[in-house]
Amino acid sequence: MAFTKTEKIWHNGKFVNWDDAKIHVLAHVVSYGSAVFEGIRCYNTPKGPAIFRLREHTQRLFNSAHIYRMDIPFTPDEIFQASLDLVRVNKMGACYLRPVVLRGYGSMGVNPEGCPIEVYLACWEWEKYLGDEAQSIGVDVCVSTWNRPAPNTLPQMAKAAANYMNSQLIRLEAKVNGYVEGIALDVNGYVSEGSGENVFLALNGTLITPPLANSPLPGITRHTVMTICRELNIPVVEQIIPREMLYIANELFFCGTAVEITPIRSVDRIPIGDGMRGPLTKRIQEEFFGVVNGTKPDRQHWLAPVGVPSPAGVPVR
Ligand SMILES: Cc1ncc(COP(=O)(O)O)c(C=O)c1O
Repeated sequence: MAFTKTEKIWHNGKFVNWDDAKIHVLAHVVSYGSAVFEGIRCYNTPKGPAIFRLREHTQRLFNSAHIYRMDIPFTPDEIFQASLDLVRVNKMGACYLRPVVLRGYGSMGVNPEGCPIEVYLACWEWEKYLGDEAQSIGVDVCVSTWNRPAPNTLPQMAKAAANYMNSQLIRLEAKVNGYVEGIALDVNGYVSEGSGENVFLALNGTLITPPLANSPLPGITRHTVMTICRELNIPVVEQIIPREMLYIANELFFCGTAVEITPIRSVDRIPIGDGMRGPLTKRIQEEFFGVVNGTKPDRQHWLAPVGVPSPAGVPVR
């Protein structure tokens, strides 16, 4: 997906010009995939830009780093504040933020000792991840021939760059075969998640999503959807999902920072429910977009205001 440069990127505590945020080709991360990162959205609200669930994304970044024995030389509060500053300095409204923590240039070999930990925060405006109409009409997906990594191989509770080699296999295979996205099964053949999004199905009025034991990323939008369901009195459970339950679901949707909440209208060319967005998906979308755009009360304190009036001044949708 194309994206437009902004002015500044935050690097180890200082703002540098976009074009100067560079690493060496022999930085550890290039050969060994040793980076952890986040994807976060900032929304335009009537009170100005606000970053959605910044606290939780920052915590997950630190968790990912901790799993990989990477000591981030900043506190979570400093990264939280730097993220707000980043949006303000770049005079952005609605945008996408990408914090990256990587092992840089210093020594060679798998052992990363001697390679500095570098922290970058970038932001830019991003178009709709799965196409313009996806959130209203839904997307056609397949079950991938690629599985998610088995437990105790690549830790899936870490949002690590290396995991996305697996995601690329899933996404590219789906695309080559004419689908928008793929849903991957875990090593035992149970539903796990999409290449970059969690999955929920609705069956007989209950929402079901795979537990973390089926190797999905612990998505922050996943948690948001579960919280919204509880607020709306929609039953929601984490439960092992056999592949065929996807086909007989009444509704199916992806959720994640990039896709937000995107209905799935078919899997492997089998229509889901009526082959269009279902009523529960629509209700959850309305609540989600109302909260993130600041038109419904932010009961859970999910929005962190950037602190300047939004340039556009209007919600994104
Ligand atoms: C593999 C994967 N699963 C799920 C998600 C959804 O997570 P979140 O809602 O925190 O963006 C993402 C996106 O970050 C992802 O890359």
